[in-house]
Amino acid sequence: MTPVLELNAVRKSFGAVVVADDQSWSLDQGEALGVIGPNGAGKTSMFNLVTGTLKPNGGSIRFMGQDITAWSAARRCRAGIARSFQVPQPFRGMTIYENTYVAATQGAGLSGAEAEEVCLDVLGRTGLLPKANVLAGGLTLLDRKRLELARAMCAKPRVLLLDEIAGGLTENECHALIDLINGLRSTGISIVWIEHVVHALLAVVDRLIVIDFGARIAEGDPHEIMNSRAVREIYLGIEADA
Ligand SMILES: Nc1ncnc2c1ncn2[C@@H]1O[C@H](COP(=O)(O)OP(=O)(O)OP(=O)(O)O)[C@@H](O)[C@H]1O
Ligand SMILES: [Mg+2]
Repeated sequence: MTPVLELNAVRKSFGAVVVADDQSWSLDQGEALGVIGPNGAGKTSMFNLVTGTLKPNGGSIRFMGQDITAWSAARRCRAGIARSFQVPQPFRGMTIYENTYVAATQGAGLSGAEAEEVCLDVLGRTGLLPKANVLAGGLTLLDRKRLELARAMCAKPRVLLLDEIAGGLTENECHALIDLINGLRSTGISIVWIEHVVHALLAVVDRLIVIDFGARIAEGDPHEIMNSRAVREIYLGIEADA
C-alpha cells in the first residue's frame, strides 16, 4: 500500500538551528501517528514543512504517491492536508461559523449547501455550535483551539495534522476529544498528532515518534517508546549510561 504521506530525508535549518535533520517517515491510510519531543525540537516546523509554509533545504515530501515538495500551501490543503495551529490563528473579525465556512470553501473547495452542511456537522461534533455566531476574536484560548480543530476538519482532510490541542481540557472534554479523533480515524483519515498530554495521545495513536534537535531519535509502539531510555533521557534527564 502506498503511504498517504512520506518524508524522505527532509532537511531544514534556521542558521545554526536544525529543525529537520534528515527526517524520513511515512504514514499509512487510517493510521494515527503521535509525535513528542522537547520544546523547540522542531515538531511544529515539521508540520510547516508538510503543509508547505516552510520550504525544505533538502529532501522530498510525497502525498498519495505524488511529489508535493514544490506545491504551494494552498494546493496541499486542497489536495487533502489540513492542520491545526499550535498558536490559534482564526480570522478574528469573523464568527466561528464564518471561520469554518472559509475552511470548507477555500480549503475543501465546497460551496453552497454542501459547505454549510459540513460546517454545521463539524461545529456540532466539536461542541462549538452554540457559539457559532460569536466573533472569533473574543474567544477564550480553549475555544480558539476548538476552532482550530473545527477548521481543519472542515477542510475535509485525508491527512489531519494536530498541533497540541488537548492542553487545558477537563477530563471529560479530553475524553470527548479522544472519541472525536478516533471517530475521524474510523472514516479513513490519517492523523499526525503532536501532543504533550501523553495519556490522550496514547488513547489514539498506533505509533509514536520522538523528535529531538530536528532528528527522529525513536519510533515504535507508543507504550514501549514512552518507557524507553531515549524518552526518559529527554524528559527526565536520566543519563544514557546511568
Ligand atoms: N521561522 C523561523 N525562523 C527562525 N527560527 C525558527 C523559525 N521557526 C522555528 N524556529 C526555531 O526552530 C526551533 C524549533 O521550533 P518548533 O516551533 O518547530 O519547535 P516545537 O518542537 O514545535 O516546540 P514546542 O514544543 O515549544 O511547540 C526553535 O528553536 C524555534 O525558535
Ligand atoms: Mg510546537
